[in-house]
Amino acid sequence: MSKHDTPGEARCPGPSTREIILADGDNAPDALVEEAYTFLGDEDIPFSRYTSQEMYQQEIDHMWSRTWQWACREEHVPNPGDYYTYDVGPYSALIIRDSDGKLCAYINSCPHRGMQFCNAGEQGRGKQFIRCPFHGMSWHLDGSLREIPCRWDFPHIKEDNFNLTGIPVGTWGGFVFVNFDPQAGPLQDYLEVLPRHFAHWPLQDRYVALHMHKLLPGNWKMCLEAFLEAYHVMATHPEGLRTAGDANAQYDIFGDNVSRFVHTVGYPSPHLPKPLTQPELFAALGHAAEDLPEGAGARQQHADLQRSALGAQMGVDLSGYSNSEMLDSIEYYLFPNACFFPGISIPLIYRFRPVDVDHCVHEILMLKPKPAAGQVPPPAEVINLGIEDSYTAVSEFAATGLAYVLDQDTENFHRQRAGIKAAVKTGQTLGNYQEARIRNLHRTLDKYLSHSQSPGA
Ligand code: FES
Ligand SMILES: [Fe+2]
Repeated sequence: MSKHDTPGEARCPGPSTREIILADGDNAPDALVEEAYTFLGDEDIPFSRYTSQEMYQQEIDHMWSRTWQWACREEHVPNPGDYYTYDVGPYSALIIRDSDGKLCAYINSCPHRGMQFCNAGEQGRGKQFIRCPFHGMSWHLDGSLREIPCRWDFPHIKEDNFNLTGIPVGTWGGFVFVNFDPQAGPLQDYLEVLPRHFAHWPLQDRYVALHMHKLLPGNWKMCLEAFLEAYHVMATHPEGLRTAGDANAQYDIFGDNVSRFVHTVGYPSPHLPKPLTQPELFAALGHAAEDLPEGAGARQQHADLQRSALGAQMGVDLSGYSNSEMLDSIEYYLFPNACFFPGISIPLIYRFRPVDVDHCVHEILMLKPKPAAGQVPPPAEVINLGIEDSYTAVSEFAATGLAYVLDQDTENFHRQRAGIKAAVKTGQTLGNYQEARIRNLHRTLDKYLSHSQSPGA
């Protein structure tokens, strides 16, 4: 069998992402030129996985209840008594720093009659203790019982068995993670290659410059999956072809939980019928073609200009970042629902949370490097966008050019959701390489649905 006939081994003709990054010759971190792809099969993925109420409920019962999910950033809860609530499906956690500064996470439900201590998404500062708003029972920040009004009426409550229910909590990259499974394995194991790769990109040294929630008309997996491949660039973002390496993007599967794509920016698409000259490429990147010095490469020159412009804007020295880190779309996905982009021009964090089988919330953070001097801005307030709102309604986001691209992505969702429901064919047929991350998501999901214990536990 020739290499081309071996499933999963065929690649787009022309330079690979890895070759483009190596040709930059600027010592991109080893993590960026690592490759990790395994063929995972080519069977159709049933459309019912996006439409079935039963499937949705199984995910709630067996997956969302047992996976590590980031809940907030550490800077949302910097001091004792600072708190943040995180909700997914029916699950709700209250993250709070105790009086020793230790991060704690409790089930956000009063042991008395189930009242939530805080509303979904609520955050605040400096609680001295956790008091239920219904009848006023209260607990210390370490979860131990503090007070029961009319204590005489509850002789059957023993001091030490009426504490708040704690759940596992951990941190990585400035994110606070929780897991609703008391038996969860360690976060560090769950993160697979992320700690090693992100040693180059310490997200804990960044701050939340922008924070948005947008309701989307689709199952959480359908919406998330639109962001796991660059195959759609040609049809959904055709204007990007002049500057984006789409069909030659690199896809990596590092394990059950972590996958990655890297697609180059400042390198034209293999789909273009005729290669661009360097001045044409430079113009497509938003500059005047005649400003490209004789003999200079457009990708290099564009990266240099970005280093100085963004460096000045952010108040940081970006000279140590390679062209790829400066420009490329580098996206790590962590099962089940989070994406981390370490690049400087595209410093996004996404997550997708189910609302019901047909809707989810897309949450976006822009994480920018902390300025070298002066005050670090406080985390940005959440901006809520409705299902028909454009991402361009957020002026700061519109200014990046990314908002328009996300509108193109999400405008597909009404039609994809309807088409999935209208399908007579029973499932979707994925590309072996470019859509392998989607297959890996379903493979990992199945491990949760078919095990009564967490995979790997
Ligand atoms: S429900 Fe919380 S004190 Fe009654
Ligand atoms: Fe897209």
